[in-house]
Amino acid sequence: MPDPAKPATTPAPTSREYVLGTNPVELERLGFQHRLWSQAAHALWFRAGIAPGQSVLDIGCGPGFASLDLAQIVGPKGHVVGIDESEPYIAFANDQARKRHLPQAKFAVADAAQIHTLDDLQAGAFDIAYVRWVLCFVPDPAAVVAAIARHLKPGGRLCIQDYFRYETMCVAPRSEAFERVIAAIAKSWRDHGGDPDIMGRLPRLALDAGLSIDHISRIEIATARPGSTMWNWPDTFWKVFLPRLEELGYITEADHRAFLEVWQARSADPAAYMHLPPMYEVIARK
Ligand SMILES: C[S@@+](CC[C@H](N)C(=O)[O-])C[C@H]1O[C@@H](n2cnc3c(N)ncnc32)[C@H](O)[C@@H]1O
Repeated sequence: MPDPAKPATTPAPTSREYVLGTNPVELERLGFQHRLWSQAAHALWFRAGIAPGQSVLDIGCGPGFASLDLAQIVGPKGHVVGIDESEPYIAFANDQARKRHLPQAKFAVADAAQIHTLDDLQAGAFDIAYVRWVLCFVPDPAAVVAAIARHLKPGGRLCIQDYFRYETMCVAPRSEAFERVIAAIAKSWRDHGGDPDIMGRLPRLALDAGLSIDHISRIEIATARPGSTMWNWPDTFWKVFLPRLEELGYITEADHRAFLEVWQARSADPAAYMHLPPMYEVIARK
């Protein structure tokens, strides 16, 4: 709950504001996060039948880390369109496409549910659409899934990777101070229109948009242990998001401090590990 006693250090967020923010440190974190999860992303794209010459839509592409991999896979005869509501992310992605000589990758600013307003984006034009860690943040995921479905060719595939039961994330051995902050993170997402359980609803939304389901699976990844690369995934997230969570009033300074004390202790404990937030993937076909 926002703490009324705490002075407001940031403007009050609107329910439409993207809760994680889009600052340069978050941009860097997204790059690191993409590296950690790129094996799962590539496995899903290949399962969906990605191939040279195809056209791919990356919705909520952020700074374009996945889109640029996709552009290399589809090659110069294919094309990739990345859409995000963040202007700085889209500027970064277009700049990277130019520097990396990938003219087949193009990026545009738009709301994910409003992609039909983009002049260059034709309905029924895409072989593959990819959406990772976006539908858990949007207030109307049904509208986004329906908008994407309209832009797929007949036979085109929608590939989604997102969270289910995010709030089960915990550290082992368990800690009440740690779990209080995880609950506050999830509440902040919900208050901004998101759903940290989104994957539980997405197969139904895909069916409602006229798609059929080819594949649903939990994504297995390495267990995060102190000192491992995967341990750095939540570690980078705390650094970016917990100060913001405190500014927004979802945790107190004392909550924040208690959390970091637990995290520091577990980070030095060779018997500790993290139960990471479960990630699922879906391939739906038009
Ligand atoms: C956690 S990032 C994930 C970025 C990228 N999909 C990835 O996997 O690296 C979420 C992204 O969704 C974008 N986003 C959130 N809500 C959006 C909306 N309604 N329309 C377009 N983009 C949105 C944010 O700007 C941010 O770049």
